[in-house]
Amino acid sequence: MSSRKYFLKTQFIGDNIAPFVSSPAGNRVMPYEAPLISGASATFITEDRTIELDVADGETLMEVAVRNGVPGITGDCGGGGACGTCQVVIAEAWREAAGEASDLEIAMLEADGEPQPGARLACQVQMASNLRGIVVTVVSH
Ligand code: FES
Repeated sequence: MSSRKYFLKTQFIGDNIAPFVSSPAGNRVMPYEAPLISGASATFITEDRTIELDVADGETLMEVAVRNGVPGITGDCGGGGACGTCQVVIAEAWREAAGEASDLEIAMLEADGEPQPGARLACQVQMASNLRGIVVTVVSH
């Protein structure tokens, strides 16, 4: 049996993230459309509005936000946890399900000062069925 691995990658096209499948040699094989999680949503609270969005299985909160143009989340580093342009505060009810921030993530959050309780990089929070209905507040800069 072959052990060749294909990878799911993303790239920016304009302001949108375009997922695609990459071959073991790094060639783009096909566009990928992740299935939406049935009935799943994520709600982003910005300074002047509340935006509820459908989410796809495995998408990060940053990818959901950028794909839909949520103000205040630009995801400049493409999800590498290196730019801090995707900061959110997770509502208390979902903090445990979202998990703990890694040391690297905490360091990035602290670069802007003392992080608020529940602060996370949206690119490090991957949607799964236990996060259906998650509510986050976008941290404005
Ligand atoms: S997209 Fe750069 S830190 Fe999240």
